Amino acid sequence: MEQADVVILGAGAAGLFCAGRLGALIGAGGARRIVVLDHGREPGEKIRISGGGRCNFTNIATAPDRFVSQTPRFCASALAGFAPQDFVALVDRAGIAWHEKTQGQLFCDGSARQIVTMLTEALGGCQLRLGVGVEAVAPGAAGEPFIVHTTAGPIGARRVVVATGGKSIPKMGASGIGYRIAEATGHRIVPTRPGLVPLTFAEQELRHSAALAGVSVEAAARVAAAPRKGQRAPLFRDALLFTHRGLSGPAILQISNFWQPGEALSLDLAPGRDLDGLLRQARGEGGRARLATVLGRWLPARLAGAVLDQMGLAEARIADQSDAALARLAERLSRWQVVPVGSEGYRTAEVTVGGVDCRDLDARTLQSRHMRGLFFIGEVVDVTGWLGGYNFQWAWASADAAARAI
Ligand code: FDA
Repeated sequence: MEQADVVILGAGAAGLFCAGRLGALIGAGGARRIVVLDHGREPGEKIRISGGGRCNFTNIATAPDRFVSQTPRFCASALAGFAPQDFVALVDRAGIAWHEKTQGQLFCDGSARQIVTMLTEALGGCQLRLGVGVEAVAPGAAGEPFIVHTTAGPIGARRVVVATGGKSIPKMGASGIGYRIAEATGHRIVPTRPGLVPLTFAEQELRHSAALAGVSVEAAARVAAAPRKGQRAPLFRDALLFTHRGLSGPAILQISNFWQPGEALSLDLAPGRDLDGLLRQARGEGGRARLATVLGRWLPARLAGAVLDQMGLAEARIADQSDAALARLAERLSRWQVVPVGSEGYRTAEVTVGGVDCRDLDARTLQSRHMRGLFFIGEVVDVTGWLGGYNFQWAWASADAAARAI
C-alpha cells in the first residue's frame, strides 16, 4: 500500500492553502510526502467562481463575532494566528492587484483564477491528485495511524487533514464526506443547514410579493425571535431583492445564517427613516397627493404600490389618512414581519452552517481531541462566516493553524 506522511482531503481553499503552508514550513529539503486529493477535475473550483469571479478573498474587519458557531469563541485562536494582512502579504507578493469594495471586503482587480494559481504554485513538492474520490478514513494497522480509502486505492497516512468543505453546491464537488468521516471517527456533528442563501415564501405570501420580483431596496433585516444563548442577534443593513420565490440580496443572505425554519424575520424597508413622522409631515404640507406618490420619495414605486394595494390604499390620498392609518402604514414598511417557508437549499447556498462540533477539536491546532493526527479545517468545521470574505479568511486561518501543528 502507498504510504504518505500527510494526506489532505480536498483541494479547495483550505486544503490547497494547508498544503502550501506545510510545503513552506518544511522547506525545499523536506523529505515528507504530502498528498492532496480531490475528486474534481480542477483544484479550487469554488474560489474560481467566488465573488462574482473576482474572489472576495478576505475581510480586513475579521473578528470572531463575524462567525456563527455553537462554540462562538472557538475560531478566535486560529484567526489570531493568521490575520487578513498575512494573506494580503501573499497576494501582494504574487503581484495580484486588489481593491477594497465595501465594508472591508477585499477583491481581486482581475480574476479569481489568480488566487487559485497563487495557491497551486505554492504547492511546491506536494502531490496534487485530481479525479480521486475519498471514500472513508479508517484506523490503520500498527505503525500507520490511518488508511485513506479512495477510488484509486488505499493510502496509508501518518496524518490526515479533512478539508472537504460542506454540502453547498453539489455541482461544484460538495459531497458531505467530511461529516461522515467525522462521525465514523467519533466526533459530534452540529446539525447542518444551508447558509448565505436566498429564502423562499409560501404560496400565500408569494401571491403578494411575486409581482415585485426584481425590485431591490435598501433594508435592515433581523431575526424577530430573541437571540440564542451566546449569540448576538445582528441587524444587517444592505440591499434586499424580491425574487420569484421569495427574498434574496446581501441583507437576506446575511440573515439566512441566523434564521431557523419557522422563525419570523423583521424587515425594515426604509431603514434610518422615521416613516411615521415623514408621512405626517407630508400630510401637514397640505395638497391632495396620493399616498403612492408620497411613498415614492423613499421607496421604489413598485414596492410602494404593492404595499398600498395590499392595505386597500392603492388610490388613497394622504390628506384623508388618520394618524392611526399612517402609523399602520409606517409599521408595515418599517417592521414587516414575515415567516419564510424555507430556503433555496444547498443548490445555491454559498456555505453550510453547522458541521464538525468544535468541542471535539483543539482550537489552536484544529486537531481532533479523540484521534491524534486527524485534523478538520475550513467549512467542514462548525464555523461559518458572514458574507464578505470571512469564509475564505477562516479557510486560510484554520489551514495555517493545522499546518503549523503538523
Ligand atoms: P471547498 O468547498 O472550497 O473545498 C472542498 C474540496 O473538497 C472541493 O474541491 C471538493 O471537490 C472536494 N471534495 C469534496 N468531497 C470530496 C470527496 N468525496 N473526494 C474528494 N474530494 C472531495 N467565501 C468568501 O470568503 N468570499 C467569497 O467571495 C465567496 N464567494 C462564494 C461564491 C459561491 C458561489 C460559493 C458557493 C461560495 C463562496 N464563498 C465565498 C464561500 C467559500 O467558497 C467557502 O467558504 C470555501 O470555499 C470553503 O473552503 P473549503 O476548502 O473548506 O471547502
